[in-house]
Amino acid sequence: MMPLPREILSDACLSYRSGRLHSEEVNLEEVAKRFGSPTFVYSKASIARAYAAIRDALSFAPHMIAYAVKANGNLAVLRHLAEMGSGADIVSEGELRRALRAGIPAENIVFSGVGKKRAEIAAALDSGVRAIHVESVGELDAVEEIARGRGVRAPVALRVNPNVDAETHPYIATGLHHTKFGLELEVARPLLPRIVSSSALDLVAVACHIGSQVSSSAALTEAVDILSRFAEECVAAGATLHSIDVGGGWPMNYGNEAKPFPPPAAFGDAIRAGLGDRVSFKVVTEPGRALVGPAGVLLTEVLYVKDQGEKRFVIVDAAMTDLIRPALYCAHHEIISLREAESDARWAPVDVVGPVCESGDFLAQDRLMPPVEPGDLLAVCGAGAYGREMASTYNGRPLAAEAMVDGDALITARERAPIESLWAHEPSQSNEPL
Ligand code: LLP
Repeated sequence: MMPLPREILSDACLSYRSGRLHSEEVNLEEVAKRFGSPTFVYSKASIARAYAAIRDALSFAPHMIAYAVKANGNLAVLRHLAEMGSGADIVSEGELRRALRAGIPAENIVFSGVGKKRAEIAAALDSGVRAIHVESVGELDAVEEIARGRGVRAPVALRVNPNVDAETHPYIATGLHHTKFGLELEVARPLLPRIVSSSALDLVAVACHIGSQVSSSAALTEAVDILSRFAEECVAAGATLHSIDVGGGWPMNYGNEAKPFPPPAAFGDAIRAGLGDRVSFKVVTEPGRALVGPAGVLLTEVLYVKDQGEKRFVIVDAAMTDLIRPALYCAHHEIISLREAESDARWAPVDVVGPVCESGDFLAQDRLMPPVEPGDLLAVCGAGAYGREMASTYNGRPLAAEAMVDGDALITARERAPIESLWAHEPSQSNEPL
């Protein structure tokens, strides 16, 4: 077998047993038999392990993990995290309702996002979230007005854009001034007198998020340093902050890194270094991918193999509609067979592509793989975060099923969407009144 970076398998709780790929104790061929293909499969143990690693990395201070629901909002995933004590970072009323439904208490929910609608702000206030992260002056005005109208004080955090380069893919970098996120300090600072004297606003936290897959611990330290200094300014201005929210960005390994990312403890150390001795606030962090990404695989079946030009295409039944990351970011996901390759197998480069009518519909390009045949099952690794969550029904493709593994138990996390779901909200006749 080609050496697959070992941490990819172990972080995912995947292993070959008698030549068959297992998630924890469950043979993935059994999952494919029961749920069909394509199906996302998540390991509970992998999520628990990642959660514990981040919790341990923050043990130097009082802290709260507010899981970024956007990475994977499946209720089974959220319930599992809630049981371990996780809070949630949400960006919409939909995510708010999901988090509450999964049993995450409102006081552990923070509301991020650059474009919250008024109805969403109202819903957040009514449910009693921990903090609404304000990202523009206009949004502050809206929150204040809505809170005043309800006769309440809105718990707000100012999300600062520290103008720090997280050294990551430009589409997932959020800490530089040329991105749409957060408030420049020069804009945030003059707001303080107004906020602390408002009867409808309660400044409870400061926040930042410099990006995903943060690869520079120096950048993280710098951002947290800027943020925690600003927290002190807020206190000096009269605010009673309870938290400093350092955002998400805890990285995970996908397998193509020149060297694996440092462990979570190093990320925690970088946060600690940025805080210096300013640790009297609760440290909130919003990891998404690091908690659930390694835990997930996308099972897919090989439909056809065809040689064309210089290329060999392995055509599978999963597509960019199920996992858009390769198409969108040229992201790398390891792809392995559910049957362990023979030791003498001849590995050759292939493109693993889906059925969607787009040249960008690939899951891997020029990837060395052992020979595969129609009917073989493959596992696309690292698919637990930003996989099913970013899926679409483009090309008339119903959304994939989701399953969860817990030891030797296999749980339905979401049934495959029935084909009728594709037109469920359309009138059945063109003249039918809506
Ligand atoms: N907090 C905020 C305010 C965020 O915007 C994000 C992610 C997170 C936390 C969680 O970041 P994480 O720990 O997962 O890196 N679709 C892209 C990722 C977009 C991330 C957007 N914001 C991908 O597939 O790589």
